[in-house]
Amino acid sequence: MKIIGTGSALPSLAVTNEMLSEFLDTNNEWISSRTGISQRRIISTESLLELSVYACNKALENAKLNAKDIDFIICSNVVNHYVTPGLGCIIQGKIGAVCPCIDLNSACSGFIYAMDMAASYLDAGKATNILIVCAEEPSKMVDWSSRDTSILFGDGAGAAIVTKGGNLKSMYLATTSAVEPLYYQRELEFNPYNKKEEFKPLVMNGKDVYKMAVNASIQDISKVMQDAHVTQNEISFYLIHQANMRIMDTIRDYLGEKEEKFPKNIQKYGNTCSASIPILLDEMNREGQLKEGALLVLSAFGAGFSSGACVLEW
Ligand code: UT7
Repeated sequence: MKIIGTGSALPSLAVTNEMLSEFLDTNNEWISSRTGISQRRIISTESLLELSVYACNKALENAKLNAKDIDFIICSNVVNHYVTPGLGCIIQGKIGAVCPCIDLNSACSGFIYAMDMAASYLDAGKATNILIVCAEEPSKMVDWSSRDTSILFGDGAGAAIVTKGGNLKSMYLATTSAVEPLYYQRELEFNPYNKKEEFKPLVMNGKDVYKMAVNASIQDISKVMQDAHVTQNEISFYLIHQANMRIMDTIRDYLGEKEEKFPKNIQKYGNTCSASIPILLDEMNREGQLKEGALLVLSAFGAGFSSGACVLEW
């Protein structure tokens, strides 16, 4: 499997830490030192669908493909306005593609799970060009009256087009049922045969998630590097899910790696769930940082608890 095009889109509104401290009991010093985040982009005038379509069109342009060349769309999404149909189906119509579409929800690990699914489709000969789009709007899940979660997240969309060939050297996915540390329940219609359920915004035990994230990522990275028979010297970049600067620094310290091999954009965008790696990938691609043949490690983790990593040759 080879990535032949990337695209991304961020909302126009940048919400700084200072802006949050106008209505929350928080401050720039706390947020930047504990998370590495200076600002995040929040959907205000545009919609998640518009951002997703823009990201997909940029990826198509980058891959020099037409929407009709896409024969499968995988959309990774945690929450959006539509419960049904899947967001991927709506995006398909807007970009003019004619192919099957599926939505998957592996929380913040979604891009890696979508890559694994795409690789299996390509290997099975069921598709030639697959569009992966990670479209996330966590600003619609968090409680904006609480400083615990609202400071962490940002909205955005990242897309990648993958095709046959190339060199996906190894892939590893892991999921353990651990719901309590991080979950969000959707408010559903009342059913006369059942009692009304109580609705809560995103619930997170930050400390537990932090520990699980570090442990899962270190374990997954070690596994995929071992499976790919590659050494750290051969890796150009580690693209880690942009959840918290300290999580990434702890993983880097454990590996004893150089700071420049851990690219970051969390300071600008916060945690954009499954969109964080494809947005970062797109920025690096457009800046010409990804040279042909470069070995990349991708690692993501999130609610579930789910995690995944891969070693990929650019
Ligand atoms: O994709 C996965 C998504 N989730 C994550 O990645 C979350 C992972 N966890 C984390 O990133 C960190 O646990 C947090 C950033 C959420 C919290 O950092 P922490 O170092 O674990 O802080 P804490 O929860 O232990 O809180 C320390 C103090 C507390 O005050 P006291 O009890 O020491 O007086 C909190 O009340 O900081 C206080 N606090 C804040 N202060 C200012 C908590 N949130 C804030 C805030 N502003 N936003």
